[in-house]
This record gives sequence, structure tokens and C-alpha cells, in this order.
Amino acid sequence: MVAKKIVIAVSGSIAAYKSLQLVRLFVKQGCEVKVVMTPASTAFVSALSFATLSKHDVSVDLIDNNTWSNHVELGLWADIMIVAPATASSIAKMANGVCDNMLIATYLSAKCPVYIAPAMDLDMWQHPSTLRNIELLQSYGNTIIPVGHGELASGLIGAGRMAEPEDIVEYVLSRESLPQDLSGRHVVITAGPTKEAFDPVRFISNHSTGRMGICLAEECADRGAIVDLILGPTNLSIEHSGVTVTNVISAQDMCDATVAAYTNADVAILAAAVADYRPKNVSDEKIKKKKGDMTIELERTPDIAQTLGGSKKAGQLTIGFALETQNALENAKSKLERKNFDFIVLNSLKDEGAGFQHNTNKVSIVHKGGDVNEYPLKSKKEVAHDIINEIIPLLK
Ligand code: C5P
Repeated sequence: MVAKKIVIAVSGSIAAYKSLQLVRLFVKQGCEVKVVMTPASTAFVSALSFATLSKHDVSVDLIDNNTWSNHVELGLWADIMIVAPATASSIAKMANGVCDNMLIATYLSAKCPVYIAPAMDLDMWQHPSTLRNIELLQSYGNTIIPVGHGELASGLIGAGRMAEPEDIVEYVLSRESLPQDLSGRHVVITAGPTKEAFDPVRFISNHSTGRMGICLAEECADRGAIVDLILGPTNLSIEHSGVTVTNVISAQDMCDATVAAYTNADVAILAAAVADYRPKNVSDEKIKKKKGDMTIELERTPDIAQTLGGSKKAGQLTIGFALETQNALENAKSKLERKNFDFIVLNSLKDEGAGFQHNTNKVSIVHKGGDVNEYPLKSKKEVAHDIINEIIPLLK
């Protein structure tokens, strides 16, 4: 395992007793573990138990006997941080930066990957405010470890149980020991929408957030690649030492940047939702409204995928996406041929949880030779992992 120094952050849930085992399992793996607890969690399990198992002092208070505790140090020390159990309250504080205890202070100053193992009652887990906070945490790049289903402390049965310690260890290890199978490879990724202006204030665009492309960029960089991310206008951001981001607005800008970056690249992954049409005439001034209807004449934008597909050198790959609402497979296959993709990732807007504005996606991968691999609904991070796994055997 690459990550050796682990901060386990424990908040106030009955599931805190499982985190004793979590500490033990990581120590057994040869990791150095330090524990930070919220004051509420000490009512469930004592700091002494964690200190004994981790062989380190446990941090609970921001201020201890008039001494200020250095949370920044702990956050910077860690290779990874695992918040387990993460209560609804701690999740809300982490999502919104409400820093009123040592756990949140450590979280806010941590620079490392953060894993969150929620634990709560099923109604709390399904509450829109929890769902929103979880989405926010994911948008910051944190990984949510899926909750278990079963009997809860309240006696209710449903989703919300903290994952079992053995499952948390396996989940984290599988991500932290990613193969470096893209080491030395150069990958270009397009992501997000494009905006096509028709005057200085108006434009045509679409609902793409760029999340799928950002997950792909992170996965490639985590696996050793040098990544050029050509990113259309989005609220999401990415900070990764292996990823160079070029921000673009229009399809033409995206095309120019992608063609330039592809010259030296091994793979291009075209995940952007590029506008197919742009206004033919762009007014320098804001167009005034007049009586009656208005018509905007549109012209085609450059097809980036087709441009790259037509000029591919031996050994270079292009991977496309297809978002379809009807005749999904036939349309994806014809796109695969027309754009000369090596494979195409098909997602249907008809599948619940797939496509725009979701953190999850359900894809089928359609290969040049006709093979189709169908995947279940997964987080976009996991989908990125599956897509890259399908690219590796095609690299020369
Ligand atoms: O034709 P369609 O837009 O459905 O094709 C989707 C695939 O082509 C995606 O991979 C998308 O990123 C790419 N594309 C592109 N440039 C365009 C239009 C689509 O690279 N102008």
C-alpha cells in the first residue's frame, strides 16, 4: 500500500466501536495510524482504547488545558484520512466548513485523499439535507464509502449502517494501491459543456457538469499519466499535480486546444458535451428585443472527435462517449465508426442515475470489434476506473 500514514477520524455514533477494529486492521497492514475524535464520540468509545490500539495520543480538543492543538500538523501528516463513523452532523459540518471541533479542523487542513464512511439512521441518511451534503463532499473530491443495509441502532431496518471495518480496509486499499499502468503515458481529456455566444451576454449551451471527465482525469493521473484536461465552463474544479487544465469556452477553442495537445498524446478521451451548432453571426453589442419572433441562424461547430479520429497516428487511441435517448446501441455503433473511435462509452438518459447532473453513471462499452461490456450503476469515480481498465490492453 502506498499510503502509510492514516488519520482515522471518529464522530459520535454507536458505530464508533467498529472503528477500534478499523484501527487494528490498518496497524496490522503496517500503517501508522493516528486518531482524532469528536467530543461526542468519546461517550461511545474511550480515547484510551484508540490510543492503546494506535500507540499514539488521540486528539479530541482544539484547546487542551490552555494549549492550542496543532490540527494543521495532523492534516498535513496524513497520506489519507478516513472519517469513520461519519455522523449526519459531522458530514454537514465538513460540507459547510463549520469548524467547531478538532475533527473538522483536521479535515479542513488535510491535503490528502479523504474517505468518508457515513453511519446514521435510514431516515437521516435519506434526508435531502444529508443527500445534498454528501453530494457537496463528493464535489470536493472526497470519496464516500457505501453504507451497509440492515438493522440499525434504532431497530429500523434499511440503509445507513457504517460499512464493516474489513470492507472499509478493502475499499480503501483497492483505491490507494492503484496500478501505475499509465506511467509515462500522455492522455488528453475533454470535459464539460461548451458555450456558443451570439452576443456579449447570451449563449447556447447544455447541462454537462464535466464531472465524468474530471473523474477520468484524476484516475489517469493517479495511475501515473501526464494529463491535459481541456475543460469547458463548469463550476467544478480539479487540483491534481498530474493534471494540467486548459479552460476553454467555445467548441472552436476546445478543438484548437485538444488538437494541439493530441500531437504528443497516446490517448484522447472525448468526454465533453460539445455544442453541435453555434450562432452563425455573433453580435458585438447586446441584441435588443423587438416585436415578434426572432430567428438565430446556426452553423456546425468542428467535430473534435472526428478531427482527431481522421488524423490518428499508429498507436494513438481515441475514446468517445455517446449520450442517447433512443436506439442507443445502434447510434453508439454508428458514431464509433463515423468518428473512428477505438471504443465508445454509451450512457442512456433513460437509465435512472445516469448522465448529466448525477454523481453516478451506468455505462456500456462498445468496442470496434463489436464486443459490448455492460456495467451496473456506479459512482463516476468507479466508472472512470472501469473505462481506464478497458484502455490499458489497447495501449501499444
Ligand atoms: O455526435 P455526438 O455529439 O453524439 O458524439 C459524441 C462524442 O463525440 C463525444 O465523445 C463527444 O465528446 C465528441 N464530440 C466532439 N466534438 C463535437 C461533438 C462531439 O468531440 N463537436
